[in-house]
Amino acid sequence: MPASELSKKNIWSNQTIFILAAVGSAVGLGNIWKFPYITGENGGGAFVLVYLACVLLIGLPVLMAEISLGRRGGASPPEAMKNLALENKTSKLWWLLGLNGILAGILILSFYTVIAGWAVSYFYDSFIGEFKNISTTQATEHFSSLVSNPMQLLFWHTVIMLVTIIVVSKGLKSGIEKVITYMMPALLVLLLILFGYAMSITGFGQSLSFLFAPDFSKLTGQSVLIAMGHAFFTLSIGLGTMMVYGSYLSKKHSIVKASIWISFADTLVALVAGVIVFSIVFSNGLEPSSGPGLLFKTLPVAFGQMTGGWFFGTLFFGLVVIAAFSSAISLIEPAISWFIDRWQMSRKKASWALGVLIWLTGIGTVLSFNQWDEVYFLDGKTFFETLDFITTNIMLPLGALFIAIFFGWILTKQQITEELNLPDKMLKIFISTVKFIAPTAVLIVFVANLI
Ligand code: PHE
Repeated sequence: MPASELSKKNIWSNQTIFILAAVGSAVGLGNIWKFPYITGENGGGAFVLVYLACVLLIGLPVLMAEISLGRRGGASPPEAMKNLALENKTSKLWWLLGLNGILAGILILSFYTVIAGWAVSYFYDSFIGEFKNISTTQATEHFSSLVSNPMQLLFWHTVIMLVTIIVVSKGLKSGIEKVITYMMPALLVLLLILFGYAMSITGFGQSLSFLFAPDFSKLTGQSVLIAMGHAFFTLSIGLGTMMVYGSYLSKKHSIVKASIWISFADTLVALVAGVIVFSIVFSNGLEPSSGPGLLFKTLPVAFGQMTGGWFFGTLFFGLVVIAAFSSAISLIEPAISWFIDRWQMSRKKASWALGVLIWLTGIGTVLSFNQWDEVYFLDGKTFFETLDFITTNIMLPLGALFIAIFFGWILTKQQITEELNLPDKMLKIFISTVKFIAPTAVLIVFVANLI
């Protein structure tokens, strides 16, 4: 399908809807589940500082670049890159950048739905009152008994996968746009209520100093790589999600304004979630570095003690599911749009084919927490850890690197001005960031980790 036709068919209703959908993609398990636990595993403050620097210096510029490439290319990521390569008379091989993203999306979703399944299970448990006055030890046991049961994980993984397929096969506009409009603000309000609870418990101060007082002796090369990878993961960049979302964006809307909002909202949610989780960790003598279960071992304790905890707990896990869901949809969209515009499949067929593939791969993730918990695929990493490592720390940074290179070195200044309406001085700073700083930073971190 020609680019012009595709972009005419699918256009966000307005700028706000675009921002909300992009925030919906960015804010997800990455902020609420992953950010706290990787911060705990990587020593706290110094890691947070590196993450914030990556968001500002690499993430935000690459986000603007990715949305611009999508809007200008006007198609699924591989096709958009082909269109752009043609427009600029350069190698068609740039389509591989789009393919890298599509594969990364599929792999990420194969663990994302399993973790989202944990949240659904917790939503249910909270609803039936399981967390009332639960102790720290009981919360830890509750989590272990969930993940050690493959059938239960498989059940929730299947439920999430099915709902995702059904929604994306209908097209993402009317349903998800509406849901996000109400749910994202609700999630923020609930996080603020939990923040109030965190302020009232003894671990609050310690949590702030853990997160915001950097101790650089705790920082390793590997943790810098993880912080950078996470900046891409949490902003949904490097894999074509923002490219597809950009391809549905009308020329009259501002990419700069949207990108600033997306990064701000995403970072705020992560930091608030971090403070909450660590306040509970330190108030109850839990281990900050306890890994992927951290969120699920801490929050039930808070809800179990709070007045109205049943209500807030149920609502909270419900919203986590929705936040995860709006990201899940955006993870599969690059692949779906490619199946449609390159392989002429119907949206329905594309959704089911990809859904089944992802569901099957997800079984590996399910098993990695129980029967395969001692089966290692890469350097002592389980199936889940391998998927997470390869996508977040290799595929996304590589995607981001080549997005920056294409945008900074191949597009003309005229083309960039057409996409980003910036005052001349700002434009210059922006272009040099995308041209030099972002690629150099990614390369240094990569090479340092290789040696
Ligand atoms: N940003 C999402 C999160 O933080 C995950 C995601 C990554 C979504 C890449 C789309 C693309 O949970």
